[in-house]
Amino acid sequence: MTLEDVKSLIREIPDFPREGIGFKDITPVLKDKEAFLFSIDMLADAIKDRDVDLIAGPEARGFLFGAPLAYKVGVGFVPVRKPGKLPAETINYEYELEYGMDSLEIHKDAIKKGQRVIIVDDLLATGGTIFAAAKLIEELGGIVDSILFLTELTFLNGRKKLEGYDVISLIKF
Ligand code: PRP
Repeated sequence: MTLEDVKSLIREIPDFPREGIGFKDITPVLKDKEAFLFSIDMLADAIKDRDVDLIAGPEARGFLFGAPLAYKVGVGFVPVRKPGKLPAETINYEYELEYGMDSLEIHKDAIKKGQRVIIVDDLLATGGTIFAAAKLIEELGGIVDSILFLTELTFLNGRKKLEGYDVISLIKF
């Protein structure tokens, strides 16, 4: 198994969720036991020299890679969720979409001041989601050690949005 094999499993669905968007579907990677295992192993390898306290991932696909990665690395996992989903006290970060606004939430007690956090997601597109997650972590006093993606759509320039952060991606489109 190689990252090229994983890349070849990611299929593009045209015009989803709306016309003109080519959606990168990672579900074939998830259901392939070797590709899924290899992806998590490669994500873990990319952060092996980093000393971190927690892994955070945004709903929903960030959970799919973030939780097994946290298990593998041996640290806790913090979910960053869409509004109204987390039961305890939260803070919220609003961000602009192409059309309208969106927001993400994190539990107030999810991260202690000074804790080092790696944020993980399946895909870097415009960077809006992860930028919001980073701001939430920092508002709680956490330190964003680095940001890790399985895939990156380089033509959308999400790295620019995340300038100043240490951004790692394994597969580039
Ligand atoms: C997708 C993807 C990333 C985000 C990337 O999630 O899983 O989290 O978009 O886009 P961005 O870099 O432009 O912010 P989505 O919002 O579709 O949520 P889902 O995982 O719940 O489907």
